[in-house]
Amino acid sequence: MNVSTRVDVAFQRCIHPSCATTYGIEEIRVGCGECGGLLDVAYDWDRARPPRQLADFEQLWSRRHEPLPHSGVWRFHALLPFAEPEHIVTVGEGQTILQRSTSVADYVGLSGGELYLQYEGLNPSGSFKDNGMTAAFTHARSVGAKRAACASTGNTSASLAMYASVTGLMKAIIFIGSGKIAYGKLSQALDYGALTLQIEGDFDDAMQRVREVSSKLGIYLVNSVNPFRLEGQKSVMYRVLEALRWEVPDWIVVPGGNLGNSSAFGKAFIELKELGLIDRVPRLAVINAAGASTLFELYEKRGLRWQQGAPQTELVDDYYAELDAAHRRASTIASAIEINRPVNLMKSLRALEFCDGVVRVATDQQILDGKAQVGAGGFGCEPASGASVAGAKMLCEEGVIGPDERVVCILTGHALKDPDVTVAYHAGDEEMFERVLGSRGVKSAAFANSAVPVANNLDAIVQAIEQHA
Ligand code: F0G
Repeated sequence: MNVSTRVDVAFQRCIHPSCATTYGIEEIRVGCGECGGLLDVAYDWDRARPPRQLADFEQLWSRRHEPLPHSGVWRFHALLPFAEPEHIVTVGEGQTILQRSTSVADYVGLSGGELYLQYEGLNPSGSFKDNGMTAAFTHARSVGAKRAACASTGNTSASLAMYASVTGLMKAIIFIGSGKIAYGKLSQALDYGALTLQIEGDFDDAMQRVREVSSKLGIYLVNSVNPFRLEGQKSVMYRVLEALRWEVPDWIVVPGGNLGNSSAFGKAFIELKELGLIDRVPRLAVINAAGASTLFELYEKRGLRWQQGAPQTELVDDYYAELDAAHRRASTIASAIEINRPVNLMKSLRALEFCDGVVRVATDQQILDGKAQVGAGGFGCEPASGASVAGAKMLCEEGVIGPDERVVCILTGHALKDPDVTVAYHAGDEEMFERVLGSRGVKSAAFANSAVPVANNLDAIVQAIEQHA
């Protein structure tokens, strides 16, 4: 095996402190062999020698012509030093934008505060997944993988398919639930030439199958249960801090599905604090869809906590048994987060503990109204991302987020990923609204911007413009 990882500074370690079994960085693992827990990528920071202050990263801005400083992930290589620079696979991911939005701030009720939107949909495959995929792909290549697989609600598969096609290094094999993927995402997987297996079932079924098949056939698994994925996703937080000139905001609000982002963000802050690179951490708000609310149910209603690595796992087992007994499946218009068995649950609990977090649920109506606000006052986003804005609004109304605080909502996917939902919301076509949204319990499109029908006649066109603009 051609191993080209940094065995001198990086290793893998079980996240449970009572176990803490370690594994070499060159091993392909998706869980602890001793206790079955999730794994972290861990570092010997004395040897890795990270920068003394975050502003040191600014020195790399003048070297943007080089592939690694150009990447918004690998610019921060010193904070994820598991690979030798010459083995990193990058396609220029992470060129994303933090935009301050006054109109969305007004909508959520931040009268004196600041609201920022972090557009991860601006990544090459149109979602935040590229941040993690570049890292997992780098590890996959360094251990000599020839095939990589994932289960997906669409964005992971688009990202994997893109890295496989652009680099030509691996064959991508993707598992999707039947009828459970937005067209923009499916079109990417097909266009990039991935082997696409449409499994009868939903994401939770596909996830279970891909784990079995990967282990049976020795295929490299790139879902976020892979600890290297999350190393790349830490960089979203580094870029937020960078855009705020290294000031820590009061809140990070993020949608929750498989809970990879919240887990990665928590790890980023744990490490930055431990390294003395920040002196405080933001609070974390994770927003589930109401129809896929496992984290909310367990954390807010049943009191499940990380408890410094000793969570009451029987609460999870009981809840999953109840879901099975009631044949309850995840269901939301935000198909990206239509997940009932989040693989990163334990890491997300750790993040919530470290960042004094809260979890909320947003209905499909609230998600779509939040999304429409991002479209009207920003660059737009896909439905799941609208959950961040819906959640921020809810937390402001509750008084949990104060009106003068500084809030960053993470927008995880591009507006063009799921055009059907956007058009159904705006078009004013009753049949379409009912079929796409009404069947999901969405009642209104309060912020719709419908097309104005006009006769092919100069006077009528002039009149329509004068009337509407
Ligand atoms: N937002 C979007 C746009 C997503 O595609 C996903 C996950 C999430 C949020 C939730 O991710 O909770 O793991 O941080 N999509 C996965 C996929 C499941 O297959 O593309 P989280």
